[in-house]
Amino acid sequence: MVRYLGIILNGVTGRMGTNQHLFRSIRAIEEQGGVRVSDDLTLMPRPILTGRNEAKLAALANRAGGLPFTTDIDAALADPENAIFFDASGTLQRAGFIERAVAAGKAVYCEKPTAVETAEALRLARLCEDAGLKNGVVQDKLWLPGIRKFMLLRDQGFFGRILSVRGEFGYWVFTGEHEGQPAQRPSWNYRKEDGGGIIVDMLCHWRYVIDNCFGPVSAVSCRGATHVPERWDERGAKYACTADDACYATMETANGVVCQFNSAWTVRVRRDDLFTMQVDGTHGSAVVGLRQCRIQAAGATPRPVWNPDIEQPIDFFGGWQEVPDATGYDNAFKAQWELFLRHVALDEPFPWTLREGAKGVQLAELGLQSWAERRWLDVGEL
Ligand SMILES: NC(=O)c1ccc[n+]([C@@H]2O[C@H](COP(=O)([O-])OP(=O)(O)OC[C@H]3O[C@@H](n4cnc5c(N)ncnc54)[C@H](O)[C@@H]3O)[C@@H](O)[C@H]2O)c1
Repeated sequence: MVRYLGIILNGVTGRMGTNQHLFRSIRAIEEQGGVRVSDDLTLMPRPILTGRNEAKLAALANRAGGLPFTTDIDAALADPENAIFFDASGTLQRAGFIERAVAAGKAVYCEKPTAVETAEALRLARLCEDAGLKNGVVQDKLWLPGIRKFMLLRDQGFFGRILSVRGEFGYWVFTGEHEGQPAQRPSWNYRKEDGGGIIVDMLCHWRYVIDNCFGPVSAVSCRGATHVPERWDERGAKYACTADDACYATMETANGVVCQFNSAWTVRVRRDDLFTMQVDGTHGSAVVGLRQCRIQAAGATPRPVWNPDIEQPIDFFGGWQEVPDATGYDNAFKAQWELFLRHVALDEPFPWTLREGAKGVQLAELGLQSWAERRWLDVGEL
């Protein structure tokens, strides 16, 4: 039997909505023949695209193989065939859409951050909880192959006691000044008044990464910066950057792991990947990338000697072993989508709720406060 799940995909003409959610998740699930639950049951998404711009929606719906679309979101919400409302519109638009979806009794799934303030993110979580509606927030990094390989090694005891973590995320985002180097991120990312800023964007991710990989975050110290003061927008007009474009954050976990994460749209990459995370433990270390995970065990650790008068005799990069793929790894967004579909249809657990998403917003808000007040802040229970 095939069970169809109507899904309203809102705000999907944007970067994330189109690439990660529509094509690499929902269309990919359709193309693989749905989510096969058992010999007798397959879950099949039935998407409808909603948004403000009819022409853009029509073009995207056509590109996706002739999907239905509408600018009348209330009509889509009124259709009982639509079980799920998904939102990838702008961060500041999210609350209004979630409220409407809750009023219509839909299961709610959305991009992060759910809001830019903790109180608002919690309010949205409670709205869903009080209405008894299933809900979830995208926490895609948890399904990256590199992170999954790390978790397997951790669960098998490879690291011993984990001591510290160094995360390095970022790349150079062009300012848009030169026609030959267009900006590769939307201009709202650099305007605080439009929900932009790398602290709001990335500390949401680091919260669930640290909570799930190393233990609950208990304190944060953060220094942000707006290194590039002016950029050029989608229409080629110069604008002032009012949001942070780099962030230097240190987090502690309740079990004493020190986690430093640098995030920047103002760095040039000379490392394994756009995101790397070095984890050092008493028994072994790992350098985790998006897909790869390289490890060095205690017994294989070289013994360096500080001597700048000679060429370095140790090939430090050579002393690491690449962890092989242990299984097939799906697109991270698709993997989480499949779990959400199973949650909605079959009541299977889905712990990545709006309440969990609110914890990310909390860390971002405290990060901004820590920067403003130039001090460490405790991260309380939510
Ligand atoms: N999970 C991740 O790794 C990740 C990465 C980047 C962005 N995001 C999040 O995804 C969301 C979208 O980011 P993006 O980079 O795709 O931005 P974007 O600007 O490319 O897309 C935003 C989309 O929302 C639409 N939109 C804005 N206001 C709307 C409204 N009132 N009604 C309907 N549609 C509206 C825009 O037209 C656009 O299509 C943001 O909340 C962002 O924080 C998540």
